[in-house]
Amino acid sequence: MRQRANKLMLAIVVVSTCLSAVAPGQTNRSPVAPRREYVESVVRDAYEQFKGDSSGKNADYIPYLAQVDSKLFGIAVVTTDNQIITVGDVGYSFSIQSISKVYTLALAMEEMGADQVFAKVGSEPTGRPFNSPLAVVDMPTHTGNPLVNAGAISTTSLVSGKDAGDKWKKILDFYSKAAGEKLVLIDEVYKSEAATNTGNKALSYLLAKYDRIYADPFESVDIYTKQCSVGVNATQLARMGATLANNGVNPQSGEQVIKKENVPEILATMTMAGLYDGSGGWAWHVGLPAKSGVGGGIVAIAPGKGAIAVFAPPLDEAGNSVKAQKVIQYVAQKLNYNLYSPSSVGLK
Ligand code: DON
Repeated sequence: MRQRANKLMLAIVVVSTCLSAVAPGQTNRSPVAPRREYVESVVRDAYEQFKGDSSGKNADYIPYLAQVDSKLFGIAVVTTDNQIITVGDVGYSFSIQSISKVYTLALAMEEMGADQVFAKVGSEPTGRPFNSPLAVVDMPTHTGNPLVNAGAISTTSLVSGKDAGDKWKKILDFYSKAAGEKLVLIDEVYKSEAATNTGNKALSYLLAKYDRIYADPFESVDIYTKQCSVGVNATQLARMGATLANNGVNPQSGEQVIKKENVPEILATMTMAGLYDGSGGWAWHVGLPAKSGVGGGIVAIAPGKGAIAVFAPPLDEAGNSVKAQKVIQYVAQKLNYNLYSPSSVGLK
């Protein structure tokens, strides 16, 4: 009797799942781009609508970034079934900057597990600028979270290796696996940032004061500076995002790059702090985990569906690309991606 009831329940679940996943007349089984032409038209519309928007300003505290062409603009969507939809300057290699923090967090979690990383770095919003020394002093955790500079330097210091070269290689290899292509350092960005990163060095010593850095402070800042100087184009960045959207599996190579069980904590941290002190407004308007970098990139994750990456250098006050925020908000709304909207999971 109970077996029959179970079978009946299973049948109901299977039928209702199929009904919500496949609209009548739909043959393509893609979870993200069931109507590829529609996704393409939304991405094109977003490009046309925002390409003339010149608000914001390139980052200039890293001299290299000030001279990047502020008109560069590219959008890439990569789905969990590796469909690729792009428009604009998607071949241009820009520095990943703070978006790297997500993948070093993922690597530290691979190595030591979520609980250890949480104990050593934690994950609390700071409500302050991304490079704030005040947050280190004020916050009970001192690190804030792995996505602000202090917490990110602390997270980088957790990565194991016999020496600095070994740790750096491990980080770069890990990013490359997430992108599905070999990534390289943009040497000019690294040199420009290494010559001007006194604030990050100060943060590393403040962390040391509170026992929240786990390797040599300056060595950790140097590796962190290198990770921020890794070059990505919008398509590579979208694939790094799609790897998170796809339970940690790179949709192109099929490789399990990030442990499936670590994905929820990574996405939760991105939701809380991915756009720094702009994260609350972002959650309100967009409802997707995302991460920005002062190089002008933002990647947003639609779990189970895919990722949108946008590159456009001019930033707002918090250090987030102005155009990238507008594009992602537009695309996410049109494609009904907001995670907090019941209709995004098929509820009427
Ligand atoms: O450490 C820094 O300041 C830069 N390498 C990264 C900062 C960053 O990308 C903040 N992003 N919005």
